[in-house]
Amino acid sequence: MPKVTFVQVDGARTVLDVPAGTSVMRGAVAAGVPGIVAECGGNLMCATCHVYTGDGADDRFPAVADEEDELLDCTAEPRRDNSRLSCQLGLTDAMDELVVHVPGCQT
Ligand code: FES
Repeated sequence: MPKVTFVQVDGARTVLDVPAGTSVMRGAVAAGVPGIVAECGGNLMCATCHVYTGDGADDRFPAVADEEDELLDCTAEPRRDNSRLSCQLGLTDAMDELVVHVPGCQT
Protein backbone atom coordinates (compact mmCIF):
# COMPACT_ATOMS: atom_id res chain seq x y z
CA MET A 1 0.00 0.00 0.00
CA PRO A 2 1.49 3.39 -0.96
CA LYS A 3 2.70 5.55 1.90
CA VAL A 4 1.95 9.23 1.36
CA THR A 5 3.61 11.95 3.42
CA PHE A 6 1.82 15.30 3.49
CA VAL A 7 4.08 18.18 4.48
CA GLN A 8 2.54 21.42 5.71
CA VAL A 9 4.15 24.84 5.24
CA ASP A 10 5.32 24.78 8.88
CA GLY A 11 7.00 21.41 8.33
CA ALA A 12 4.36 19.34 10.13
CA ARG A 13 3.99 15.94 8.53
CA THR A 14 1.15 13.48 8.24
CA VAL A 15 2.07 10.02 6.98
CA LEU A 16 -0.73 7.85 5.67
CA ASP A 17 -1.05 4.44 4.13
CA VAL A 18 -3.43 5.10 1.27
CA PRO A 19 -4.87 2.16 -0.66
CA ALA A 20 -3.91 1.77 -4.31
CA GLY A 21 -6.80 2.62 -6.58
CA THR A 22 -7.67 5.79 -4.73
CA SER A 23 -6.30 9.29 -5.12
CA VAL A 24 -3.97 11.32 -2.97
CA MET A 25 -6.89 13.70 -2.37
CA ARG A 26 -9.26 10.95 -1.19
CA GLY A 27 -6.66 9.66 1.22
CA ALA A 28 -6.08 13.13 2.61
CA VAL A 29 -9.77 13.97 3.02
CA ALA A 30 -10.56 10.63 4.65
CA ALA A 31 -7.85 11.26 7.23
CA GLY A 32 -8.63 14.95 7.72
CA VAL A 33 -5.29 16.22 6.49
CA PRO A 34 -5.34 20.01 6.92
CA GLY A 35 -5.17 22.09 3.77
CA ILE A 36 -6.69 19.62 1.32
CA VAL A 37 -10.10 21.23 0.88
CA ALA A 38 -11.33 19.41 -2.24
CA GLU A 39 -14.55 21.40 -2.51
CA CYS A 40 -15.73 19.69 -5.69
CA GLY A 41 -15.07 16.16 -4.48
CA GLY A 42 -12.62 15.35 -7.23
CA ASN A 43 -14.65 16.54 -10.22
CA LEU A 44 -12.01 18.91 -11.59
CA MET A 45 -13.99 22.02 -10.75
CA CYS A 46 -12.27 23.71 -7.82
CA ALA A 47 -8.45 23.51 -7.61
CA THR A 48 -8.68 23.39 -3.79
CA CYS A 49 -6.84 20.08 -3.73
CA HIS A 50 -3.63 21.68 -5.00
CA VAL A 51 -0.35 20.11 -3.88
CA TYR A 52 3.31 20.28 -4.82
CA THR A 53 4.79 16.88 -5.51
CA GLY A 54 8.07 15.85 -3.90
CA ASP A 55 11.04 18.02 -4.74
CA GLY A 56 10.00 18.29 -8.35
CA ALA A 57 7.60 16.87 -10.90
CA ASP A 58 6.76 13.26 -10.04
CA ASP A 59 6.78 11.27 -13.27
CA ARG A 60 5.14 8.27 -11.64
CA PHE A 61 1.86 10.03 -12.28
CA PRO A 62 0.32 10.65 -15.69
CA ALA A 63 1.14 14.01 -17.24
CA VAL A 64 -1.12 16.96 -16.50
CA ALA A 65 -4.18 16.77 -18.74
CA ASP A 66 -5.81 19.82 -20.34
CA GLU A 67 -8.57 20.27 -17.74
CA GLU A 68 -6.14 19.96 -14.85
CA ASP A 69 -3.77 22.35 -16.61
CA GLU A 70 -6.49 25.01 -16.86
CA LEU A 71 -7.42 24.67 -13.19
CA LEU A 72 -3.81 24.84 -12.08
CA ASP A 73 -3.83 28.40 -13.36
CA CYS A 74 -6.54 29.16 -10.75
CA THR A 75 -4.84 27.95 -7.58
CA ALA A 76 -4.71 30.23 -4.54
CA GLU A 77 -0.97 29.69 -4.10
CA PRO A 78 1.43 30.12 -7.01
CA ARG A 79 1.64 27.39 -9.59
CA ARG A 80 5.01 25.68 -9.83
CA ASP A 81 6.49 23.04 -12.12
CA ASN A 82 5.51 20.40 -9.55
CA SER A 83 1.96 21.66 -8.96
CA ARG A 84 -0.74 19.03 -9.28
CA LEU A 85 -4.35 18.60 -8.30
CA SER A 86 -4.28 15.77 -5.80
CA CYS A 87 -7.63 14.43 -7.00
CA GLN A 88 -5.88 13.54 -10.24
CA LEU A 89 -3.05 11.68 -8.55
CA GLY A 90 -4.16 8.08 -8.59
CA LEU A 91 -2.12 5.70 -6.46
CA THR A 92 -0.88 2.31 -7.57
CA ASP A 93 0.80 -0.57 -5.78
CA ALA A 94 3.99 0.26 -7.71
CA MET A 95 4.32 3.44 -5.65
CA ASP A 96 6.06 2.73 -2.37
CA GLU A 97 6.36 6.18 -0.93
CA LEU A 98 5.64 9.67 -2.07
CA VAL A 99 5.74 13.13 -0.61
CA VAL A 100 3.39 16.00 -1.34
CA HIS A 101 3.65 19.52 0.03
CA VAL A 102 0.41 21.22 1.00
CA PRO A 103 0.16 24.91 0.02
CA GLY A 104 -0.45 27.45 2.76
CA CYS A 105 -3.77 28.51 1.26
CA GLN A 106 -6.34 26.84 -1.02
CA THR A 107 -9.02 29.51 -1.39
FE1 FES B 1 -11.77 19.80 -6.92
FE2 FES B 1 -9.54 18.32 -7.14
S1 FES B 1 -11.08 18.21 -5.62
S2 FES B 1 -10.30 19.85 -8.52
